Amino acid sequence: MSSPTRIDAVDVIRAKRDGEELSTDYIRWIIDAYTRGAVGDEQFAALNMAIFLNGMNRREIVDWTQAMIDSGERMDFRALGVPTADKHSTGGVGDKLSLPLGPLVASFGVAVPMLSGRGLGHTGGTLDKLEAIPGFTVDIDNERMMSILRDVGVVIASAGAGLAPADKKIYALRDITSTVDCIPLIASSIMSKKIAAGADSLVLDVKVGSGAFMKDLDTARELARTMVDLGNDAGVITSALLTDMSVPLGKKIGNSLEIAETVEVLAGGGPADIVELTCEFARRMLAAAGQPDADVEAALRDGRAMDTWRAMVTAQGGDPDAALPVAPHTHDLVADRDGVVTELDALAIGVGSWRLGAGRARKEDPVQLSAGIELHVGIGDRVQAGQKLMTLHTETEDRFDYALASITPGVVIGDTEVAERSVILDTIDPTR
Ligand code: URA
Repeated sequence: MSSPTRIDAVDVIRAKRDGEELSTDYIRWIIDAYTRGAVGDEQFAALNMAIFLNGMNRREIVDWTQAMIDSGERMDFRALGVPTADKHSTGGVGDKLSLPLGPLVASFGVAVPMLSGRGLGHTGGTLDKLEAIPGFTVDIDNERMMSILRDVGVVIASAGAGLAPADKKIYALRDITSTVDCIPLIASSIMSKKIAAGADSLVLDVKVGSGAFMKDLDTARELARTMVDLGNDAGVITSALLTDMSVPLGKKIGNSLEIAETVEVLAGGGPADIVELTCEFARRMLAAAGQPDADVEAALRDGRAMDTWRAMVTAQGGDPDAALPVAPHTHDLVADRDGVVTELDALAIGVGSWRLGAGRARKEDPVQLSAGIELHVGIGDRVQAGQKLMTLHTETEDRFDYALASITPGVVIGDTEVAERSVILDTIDPTR
C-alpha cells in the first residue's frame, strides 16, 4: 500500500491488525518514533501483537530489520584488512561453543569480533562464563576492540548500548507482552544486532529441543531460513546449522565449569559433541572467509588455538593461568538402579544449574561463578545402582533440594539401548 506523508501510529496498527502489508515508510517511521519516545509503549505493544497474530512477509521483515539497524551504530572492521567472521547461537544448556571457536578461527588469520550476551533463565551467557576468569573484562570500547583484533585476532565483548537500540526497547516490551515467540520478530531482533555488528560472514547455531527456544525442528528451520535470508540480503554471508538441544552440550554446565571444559577442548581433548560442533562451525566460518580447506582439527591438536585463547584472555585483562573459582559445596546424584541412561533432559538440567546459582532470573541479578553441574554419564551409557551420574556445585548449600526437584525427573534410566543421535540436525545455506 502507498503511505500518506503524515503517518500516525494508529494507522500503522490498524493496517497490521487488518492483515495488510506495512509499507517501508510506515515501518521506518514507527521504529524511529518508538525509539525516540514519540510513540508510547501501549501503541507499540498493540503493533507487536498485530504482527504476532498476522505475521510479516519477507520484504516487511527486511525493512523492519533495516530500521532497527539504522536506529544505532554499525561497526566497521574493513580497516583491519582481513576477513571477519562471527557466530551466533540462539542459546542452550552447556553451550560454550563460542569460547573455543573464536580463538580457533582467529588462529587462521581471520578476525573474529564477537559481541555476546549474558545468561537469562536456564540458558547460560558467554559473558558470564568469561568473567569466571580472574581479571577478565568484557567491557571493551571500539578502539580497544580494533587493537585487540589487530594484535590477537579475536575479542569477545559485551555489545555496547549503541548497537540497535530500537531492539533493546522493543525486546523489553515483547518480554512483558507475550510477543517474544514470533519468527519475524525473533529473526529481525537477532539479525539487526548481528548485521550491525559488522562482520563479513555469520554462522548461526539454531538450537532445537527441550533446552532451546525452538522446541521442534520445523519451526527452527523456518526461523533459520528467515535469518539466513536476512543476513545474505544485507550482504553478510550467512548460513545456519540446526543442532540438538534435547540434552546438554558437553559434560560441564555453569560458568567456571564451562571455562574449564573450553580449555580441555583447546588442549586437544574435551567431549566429542563439543569438538564436533566447534570444528564444523570453524570450517564454515573459515570457508566463508576464503579458507575452505583449513585443517581445524590440527589447530586444536598442535596448540595454535590454545595460544590464541591465551593471548585473547591476556589482552582482555585476564590471567590464563589463574585458578578458576571452585564451589565450596558439592552433591553427587547417583543411579537408583542398574540400566541404560535414556534421558538427560536439557531443560531439567539447565533449570537445575540455574537454581544452583549459575544463572539469573532478572537482568540485574549476580551469578555464582562456580555453580553448575558436571555430568559423569551420557545418553546410552550403561550404569549400575549407586554409580555417580552427576555432581552438583553451588556456593549456597540450601539450593541442592530446589535444584534436584528440577533435575531428577529429567534423568531417566531404562532397560533398552538408545540409538546414537547426531548433534547436527540440518543445515541451511544461502538460497542464491
Ligand atoms: N534473542 C534475541 O536477541 N531476540 C529475540 O527476539 C529472541 C532471542
